[in-house]
Amino acid sequence: MDIKKLEQRYEGKAKKVYATSDPAYYIVEYKDDATAFNGLKHGTISGKGVINNKMSNLMFQLLEKAGVKTHFVEQLSDRETVVKAVEIVPLEIIIRNVAAGSFSKRYGVAEGTALKCPTLEFSLKNDELNDPLINDSHIIALGVATEKELDEIRTLAYKVNDVLREFFAGIGVKLIDFKIEAGRLPDGTIILADEISPDNCRFWDVVTHEKLDKDRFRHDLGGVEEAYQEMLRRLTL
Ligand code: TMP
Repeated sequence: MDIKKLEQRYEGKAKKVYATSDPAYYIVEYKDDATAFNGLKHGTISGKGVINNKMSNLMFQLLEKAGVKTHFVEQLSDRETVVKAVEIVPLEIIIRNVAAGSFSKRYGVAEGTALKCPTLEFSLKNDELNDPLINDSHIIALGVATEKELDEIRTLAYKVNDVLREFFAGIGVKLIDFKIEAGRLPDGTIILADEISPDNCRFWDVVTHEKLDKDRFRHDLGGVEEAYQEMLRRLTL
């Protein structure tokens, strides 16, 4: 793809986003920086940017094949990918299949408890406010998304869960939970954006329940780089 990287538009905790010579596209660049607990904990996970770029792109391609519209366009290099320029809906869209993390803490449910059905929750993407949980009526009342967009986001999130859960089961990985983000194209279409990687999913080995995700960094469990590498290895076998 003949596209020029222009000025940086945004720098997040794990990625930078650049404008390009074509206003319909951005280039994202994945970093090795890692944060947890809303930036309270900082570190580096060596090689993470390369792994997350490759893994996300594989996941987005798998989802596209399953009929999910995503921002993926083309991988440019180990750390860089061309994506469709979208306006991010400022919501963290979280699906859970098994209790873990903040859900376990909030409801006093042991980590690893299977949920009777997948759950969906939203947090408002706002670092100053610590990404507070937000319900559907608040989202609509505040104009964060319209009712129609929220319906589309819900359908998208459950579909992503169905496709990913089945796929990961096939490589011996249990999809515990994940966070995705949605974006609006200029015509208003809602598509899947951001990334799908061990940074924003919980992955457990099906047999040993070994954690293969960022919880190893969050809770100082060791073997962080190895867990990310293992996920990519299983994806590319
Ligand atoms: P939680 O249990 O801490 O709420 O996390 C649920 C899922 O969302 C888990 O897979 C990690 C992911 N996540 C993010 O990607 N970014 C965040 O800022 C948070 C809090 C969670």
